[in-house]
Amino acid sequence: MTVSVEPTTTGTNAGTSAGTPGGVSGGAAASEPGAALRPHAEQSFAAELTALAAQDDRPRPARWKLSPWAVATYLLGGTLPDGTVITPKYVGPRRIVEVAVTTLATDRALLLLGVPGTAKTWVSEHLAAAVSGDSTLLVQGTAGTPEEAIRYGWNYARLLAHGPSRDALVPSPVMRAMSEGMTARVEELTRIPADVQDTLITILSEKTLPIPELGDEVQAVRGFNLIATANDRDRGVNDLSSALRRRFNTVVLPLPESPDAEVEIVSRRVEQLGRSLDLPAAPDGIAEIRRVVTVFRELRDGVTADGRTKLKSPSGTLSTAEAISVVTNGLALSAHFGDGVLRPADVAAGILGAVVRDPAADRVIWQEYLETVVREREGWKDFYRACREVSA
Ligand SMILES: Nc1ncnc2c1ncn2[C@@H]1O[C@H](COP(=O)(O)OP(=O)(O)O)[C@@H](O)[C@H]1O
Ligand SMILES: [Mg+2]
Repeated sequence: MTVSVEPTTTGTNAGTSAGTPGGVSGGAAASEPGAALRPHAEQSFAAELTALAAQDDRPRPARWKLSPWAVATYLLGGTLPDGTVITPKYVGPRRIVEVAVTTLATDRALLLLGVPGTAKTWVSEHLAAAVSGDSTLLVQGTAGTPEEAIRYGWNYARLLAHGPSRDALVPSPVMRAMSEGMTARVEELTRIPADVQDTLITILSEKTLPIPELGDEVQAVRGFNLIATANDRDRGVNDLSSALRRRFNTVVLPLPESPDAEVEIVSRRVEQLGRSLDLPAAPDGIAEIRRVVTVFRELRDGVTADGRTKLKSPSGTLSTAEAISVVTNGLALSAHFGDGVLRPADVAAGILGAVVRDPAADRVIWQEYLETVVREREGWKDFYRACREVSA
């Protein structure tokens, strides 16, 4: 099996390709000098979104670009009546996507919760792209996120010259989403200090953003909603207040349930990323991808795939996202310094780097896994040797 290709992806970029006709293929667009390094979802998948909109005859909530059904199809993939293939973006339980999409059509906001690398950010971006046609109204949550990032700031030159006015006000992405009836996104909500998080309570419950300096307010128009993501492991850092939590419907994104699902996710993403990095398509990397996924899953689960050997889990997350980056780096190595075929030596160093985060404890765990599991496994000799070489 070769790594799957997504034929409908286009690299059309509204921001930078003013002079080029639309519908450029992904590969060509990626090598264009001015092409964005990472186009937004609504740019990468513009062709799919247009096809969905054209054939979607179900009712759409106010200001939605697509019906909830079409949004779910965009995320989960499918074939349209005219034969257009919609590639799956999210691989996982259909119900999760249905609940997430439905939530956005209600007056409650959506909270995507999960361990790192479970596609929370990815799903949030694609939901915003499909619902509002714009995934860029984004607030990145950090310990230093100020209230202005959620409410508004001021253009001080204008403020000093003309005094406080709407002209001097710099709206936050959330404020813009409210006034335009769009989807706003807040990444890593629980990293934001609690008092700043609470700014969202009025926005989500009263659907208004007061501007006391002007004796004014911005009222959310229909179509506005908000998607937040939060990390399971951050729990306890800046826990959501119960007042805020009540404004959200929480959807937990699980780790991929089967090895096959995880292999599919990794090969799909790697293929896309490889294309945007102008790497030649890997003719047959699937065996190595499967191996990376197996190693990650076994160490994560603390037991070998056959259930026979208990293992210690290293401190790193070893998520699907890490597997994607290990394989992508491996492909780059094999493309630039190898024969273009993904081999054990191309992924060994990446795996070691992902597994051994804590130099002392994780190294012991890795050595034990190497000697008790990898060494004995049929067909894993080359991989064992490559790992020994980089671990030395
Ligand atoms: N179930 C899944 N379906 C599709 N892609 C996935 C899945 N799980 C992980 N990924 C991929 O993993 C990568 C990392 O996901 P990301 O959204 O950054 O994780 P999170 O925000 O949960 O930490 C993305 O490129 C995404 O494509
Ligand atoms: Mg994220």
